[in-house]
Amino acid sequence: MAKARIGLIGLGVMGANLALNIAEKGFPVAVHNRTTPAIDAFIAGAGDLADRLVAAPTPAALAAALAPPRAIILMVKAGAPVDATIAALRPHLEPGDIIIDAGNADFNDTRRREAALREAGLAFVGMGVSGGEEGARHGPSIMVGGTAQAFAPIAGIVEAIAACYNGASCAAHLGPDGAGHFVKTVHNGIEYADMQMIAEIYGLLRHAEGRPPARIAALFDEWNGGPLRSYLVEITAKVLAASDPETGLPMVDVIHDCAGQKGTGRWTVIEALRLGQSVPAIEAAVGARVWSAAKDLRLAGEAVLQGPDPTQAGAGLLDADLERALLAARVIGYGQGFSLLAAASGEFGWQLDLVRIAEIWRAGCIIRSALLDDIASAFADPPPGGSLILSLHFAQVLSGNTGALRRVVARAVQAGMPVPVLSAALAWYDTMRRARGTASLIQAQRDFFGAHGFERVDRDGGGYHGPWGG
Ligand code: 6PG
Repeated sequence: MAKARIGLIGLGVMGANLALNIAEKGFPVAVHNRTTPAIDAFIAGAGDLADRLVAAPTPAALAAALAPPRAIILMVKAGAPVDATIAALRPHLEPGDIIIDAGNADFNDTRRREAALREAGLAFVGMGVSGGEEGARHGPSIMVGGTAQAFAPIAGIVEAIAACYNGASCAAHLGPDGAGHFVKTVHNGIEYADMQMIAEIYGLLRHAEGRPPARIAALFDEWNGGPLRSYLVEITAKVLAASDPETGLPMVDVIHDCAGQKGTGRWTVIEALRLGQSVPAIEAAVGARVWSAAKDLRLAGEAVLQGPDPTQAGAGLLDADLERALLAARVIGYGQGFSLLAAASGEFGWQLDLVRIAEIWRAGCIIRSALLDDIASAFADPPPGGSLILSLHFAQVLSGNTGALRRVVARAVQAGMPVPVLSAALAWYDTMRRARGTASLIQAQRDFFGAHGFERVDRDGGGYHGPWGG
């Protein structure tokens, strides 16, 4: 039998769809899964593509089905299962072989694995893949990290299976070791912020304005034809239009209001803080998921905590303001994500190309949106401090739309509706547009209680102290 071009381990939803995508693009794939019956079932269900799939019941069989240098994609659960899979594979590999982790790995793990395998003569590629089930099957956005030599033998396959935007592949080699997985993590952080700000706008329309989901669906659908055009706004319209076949109720009403999270949003925030950065819109979105899951506490809170009743207070909001508020907050969410990418790039020496990242996010991934073309253009002429919101284009977008964001946040606060991401985005914007803030008082307090010293505006150097003692 002819050798397969690439191997894949892990036939869960993402792995199975990625294997079919690769096979469809003409590359024979050897597939392995920890539970072997799943391999035969997968190939039996692959239809016309089955003859491009090779069953590999063991890691040894997988290695034997591939010609060196072997390239093997792992699509297994992040964390310990990745290490266990690598350990099972290693005895069957030879120097020059390439392991590609296509899961949502913590980039710190990717750096560790890459270094350890490189020492053993093996190549390791950390590959962020976005687009969910549909993307994996028909074209995801792919963010690659690893050495250029490790990527070269698989570049043709990776570029062929990725989504296309205006004829260009939405796959790119972005930097060494953990660069690809870091970019994917930040992608997910932006995803969290975007999803939460959409949910906050929905909440205002639903609970303060009292609109039924079907009408809100129509509004999101309309917005999807304008500057908010994006996958997340598009699916929000579809979700809100859906009814539960069993009860006939709006589907959104029969779903528990406790959000799950697998960790990438939280990692974005943790890594931002480690880098001495802050991404408040993303932080607020992670926090909102945490509090959504604290159902018992919120039930207890509803019984005792007083405040305005949104159904009585009404928000009195204009649809156009909500659309503009969402646009402004979305720009801010992206802006924070890209600033974090720039900070990590400096810290780890990755030389991330922000233009390229914006370009490969234009199709295939969950945060694809009409804004990404403009973001790519904005970074082509680097804005002051590499900050998206300071680019000429987005400074204008924000000047034109933050008035609406301000009105929406103000009305939400008055109506007693929580809008953590919208308000965090606005607070950050207001922070960034004031050259002189209030930290002189923080410095004075630090000096007062800890003699930490401060710098004066009228002299050079630091180490000054205030007249606190007497
Ligand atoms: C993607 C998604 C995906 C992620 C899910 C769930 O880009 O395709 O980001 O990778 O796993 O969206 O993430 P949470 O469970 O953390 O919400």
